[in-house]
Amino acid sequence: MTFVKTTLSASRYGARVATHAARSCLAAARMMITATDSAADAAATPDDLMALLRASGLAPLRLGGRTLLPIVQGGMGVGVSAHRLAGSVAALGAMGTISSVDLRRHHPDLMQRTNDLPPGKAATQAAKLAINEANIEALAREIRAAREIAGGRGLLAINVMRAVSEYGPSVTRALECGIDAVVVGAGLPLDLPELARDHPGALLVPILSDARGVQLLVRKWERKKRLPDAIVIEHPRLAGGHLGAAKIADLNDPRFEFENVIPQSLAFLRAAGIEIPLIAAGGIRCFEDIARVQALGAAAVQLGTPFAVTQECDAHANFKRVLAQARDTDLVEFISVAGLPARAVATPWLVNYLKAEPKLQRAAHVKPRCTLAFDCLAQCGLRDGLPGWGQFCIDTQLAAALRGDVKKGLFFRGVGALPFGDQIRGVRELMMRLLTQRDAVTA
Ligand SMILES: Cc1cc2nc3c(=O)[nH]c(=O)nc-3n(C[C@H](O)[C@H](O)[C@H](O)COP(=O)(O)O)c2cc1C
Repeated sequence: MTFVKTTLSASRYGARVATHAARSCLAAARMMITATDSAADAAATPDDLMALLRASGLAPLRLGGRTLLPIVQGGMGVGVSAHRLAGSVAALGAMGTISSVDLRRHHPDLMQRTNDLPPGKAATQAAKLAINEANIEALAREIRAAREIAGGRGLLAINVMRAVSEYGPSVTRALECGIDAVVVGAGLPLDLPELARDHPGALLVPILSDARGVQLLVRKWERKKRLPDAIVIEHPRLAGGHLGAAKIADLNDPRFEFENVIPQSLAFLRAAGIEIPLIAAGGIRCFEDIARVQALGAAAVQLGTPFAVTQECDAHANFKRVLAQARDTDLVEFISVAGLPARAVATPWLVNYLKAEPKLQRAAHVKPRCTLAFDCLAQCGLRDGLPGWGQFCIDTQLAAALRGDVKKGLFFRGVGALPFGDQIRGVRELMMRLLTQRDAVTA
């Protein structure tokens, strides 16, 4: 099967040398906490975690006037990172991220409102408006609930994909709700400074994958007199979900290696007299991975998959099981309906879709309307009949994964064995594990 490309193990990256400072602090970290004691891990407070961080030799993330754990939970749609996960991460003194996409799926009353819409062409526009309205209301509810959990600790972000049609309204509503940070990926958010003009205190964080992208975006934003507050550098060969490369064949391009993109981006920023923290994302699984990217100059890391398999993750237990039990050899890369490469677990629906893909792409044609009437993407391969793009309804498949339908769902996942293997543990335990060196961990 030519479309299935086996991905590489992240352990290749994780095994590299930790910083000298991190090593010398090992004894202190051991004295403070026994990383194998999961009851102790579950009870750890934000102060315990900060003390563990200090003893570990890793640097904290300074962002928005706060000192945070250098661990960011990446936004995961549809509904995978909603208020519970994002709020729990923020409550521990890190940055938690709600994904903005189709959040009504967590609110039965909003689903009911949009399920009962009349069918037919004439009703399509009304249906679209009703679904978008429901999603905006759900977004406000999720931000409110996450803030309650966070209790003023850490930072709360919203992740909005540039490729979604409700990008602008979602950013605006989140800002009106007082979100701390707006994180935008899946496209270049060149217009984000304008969208956030009335919110000068909000943190703006684009997701990019190479130094050229960093340079381009910073130069354009400079002209608008606003700079990113941080930049996520997401590795297309390692991350889950949509990937920041134009083609599947580009995923292995050396320009995406952290060893290249982080020093190159920092050199550009230094030469321009600008200081912006870089956050490395994709395949980060352990303390040594964090130490390695901090040694390259990154300020922090962003993780998706390890947070998606926590107890606090907002998805169904089956969703977590599929991700936790998948091995790198179970992952496939394909072109999504957004026209970008994506990485997911080869579950039954995806395997069957990929078998049918050449035929579906040959038959691609413009449809009179979106399958779900809400045009979630600004440009959709299925609706717009774009032959080289995916030919499936992404919202339908991601929503199936969210509710734990293993046969029908699309399960995005990043590369690499997870910190607790196939076990589902809590966010606190995950944080403790990430802040503890491998040779201090025996379970
Ligand atoms: C299930 C899943 C859904 C994701 N959805 C989004 C998304 O909606 N927007 C986005 O910018 N990134 C998304 N991502 C990427 C993550 O935010 C994160 O950057 C990435 O997963 C990091 O790689 P890792 O999974 O190897 O840790 C998703 C990742 C996963 C695993």
